[in-house]
Amino acid sequence: MSDIDTTKVWLANFTTSAEATKQGKELFNWLGFSAHYQIARLAIGRSLGEPNFPETAPDAKGITIKGNLLFGDEQQGALLWVGLLVENINQHSPNKTINLEVLQHAVRDHWRRGISLLQQDWDIAGDYNKFVELLITRRASLPNEGDYLTTNDKKKSQHDKLSSGAVALNLGQDKDSGEVINWVINGQGYSPNVAIMGQSGSGKTRMMLKLLTELRELTGVPVLLIDVQKDELAERYGLANALGAKFLKIPSQPIPLDIFAGSTASADAARDVTIAFRESLDKALAKGLTDNQKMNVLEALKPLFAKRKNITMLAIQQAIERHYEDDNKSNKPDRVIAIIHELCQYTLFEPTLSPAEFFSQSWILTFGGAPTESRRLAIFLLFDALHRYLQTLPESPMDENNHRAVRMAVAVDEARPLLDAKHDGLSKMVRLHRSHGLTVFMASQSPDDYAGQSDDYMEQIGLPICFKTNATSTAVLNNMFKAKPNFASLESGTCLTVIENSTRKVRAF
Ligand SMILES: Nc1ncnc2c1ncn2[C@@H]1O[C@H](COP(=O)(O)OP(=O)(O)OP(=O)(O)O)[C@@H](O)[C@H]1O
Ligand SMILES: [Mg+2]
Repeated sequence: MSDIDTTKVWLANFTTSAEATKQGKELFNWLGFSAHYQIARLAIGRSLGEPNFPETAPDAKGITIKGNLLFGDEQQGALLWVGLLVENINQHSPNKTINLEVLQHAVRDHWRRGISLLQQDWDIAGDYNKFVELLITRRASLPNEGDYLTTNDKKKSQHDKLSSGAVALNLGQDKDSGEVINWVINGQGYSPNVAIMGQSGSGKTRMMLKLLTELRELTGVPVLLIDVQKDELAERYGLANALGAKFLKIPSQPIPLDIFAGSTASADAARDVTIAFRESLDKALAKGLTDNQKMNVLEALKPLFAKRKNITMLAIQQAIERHYEDDNKSNKPDRVIAIIHELCQYTLFEPTLSPAEFFSQSWILTFGGAPTESRRLAIFLLFDALHRYLQTLPESPMDENNHRAVRMAVAVDEARPLLDAKHDGLSKMVRLHRSHGLTVFMASQSPDDYAGQSDDYMEQIGLPICFKTNATSTAVLNNMFKAKPNFASLESGTCLTVIENSTRKVRAF
């Protein structure tokens, strides 16, 4: 509800915090603005683009600007500004009555946060042209659709937006009866994760894309699709369109994500991020790290992660080099230096988008051109970042029939190298984030690829799908299918799956 007299808004005073005014003046000079309302509008707009509502500013002792100057006159879009602010308040506090005072507070807080975000953008960009480019192409890039759109038309609140009811994916037709076989991805009592297996050319990728496209159509959730081994999906424009996704070919295009975001929040956060990085590095390397090297990496990086934001791989390289220079008694350079140096030949990440910004969009990431260790490191770090991001989210709501709202899908094609490396990133995705509305799709040739993973990993596969394969009755297939069907005789386009405890033969295409 709002109770706003726009005439009063034009005459009212708006302000921000003293600190934001001081920072704003610096930006004002760098950007060559001629009036303070210009920087204020830029800041408010920047902050309105963030997914959450800003914290309350510490004070309201900054510069004061009258409403008619801050928003312009009605022809210049003043009503639009007020509309955007009212909508934003409404979105985050649906029950609040919005009066002039509430609007003034919202302006104060957005203005203050916006200045701080612009300052960070400026630091990342480094010069005026890059700053403008960053704001236009990244910060202002509009989502392809409203976030978390669902088939039903409830858009009253954030809660409703996420409630998509039962999401039934059409797997194909029963091979014998011709009946359409649906699988409800977000039902109660099983996991929303899919494992697709089968020999080369049997239809794994095609099936995965079919299901992802359906999921996207039904729910509008962001999809993070990772092609681990090939660049096969890199130019599938129809697919990108259907998923609302952008392509990134790594390493020629770095992943635009602040991969270590949040590490400065506390000493614990810095330690956790450092340990996760060390584990990912260790698992990414063919020969791993020695205990001594692990300790050195930890010591070298903990202060960096504790103090610095927007950390790049280059900053990591420098911190490790410095640590070894200070510490090394012998003159022989440690292998870690060479490894990091090698990995930094490629820019795998650029800290342009926050995790919330990055993971609320759809992406098709292909790693065909990346050397094995860089590829593994990039994917492991990406999973680490996603795990941290998901931990910050509230539980995904359930409807009255216990259908958990789907929030995001992660799909990994050619998952074998990740399963082999036994990094716990993929396993964490599968085991820990169901309550956050995550669903995981994995495609891998042989059921054996899942062998050696923990049992509770298997239990987290809600839907096993197996196309033709010569792998016979491995423990994995037994575990997933609870029987010994003949997978070797499956015809092209036909798979076996298990729905509500019964094995079904499905003609997928
Ligand atoms: N949309 C489509 N329409 C018709 N045929 C398709 C389509 N997509 C893929 N195919 C064909 O279906 C077969 C299975 O392809 P798919 O890429 O899904 O196999 P795969 O199991 O992922 O193999 P690999 O292990 O080599 O990645 C291939 O012969 C492919 O050419
Ligand atoms: Mg494939």
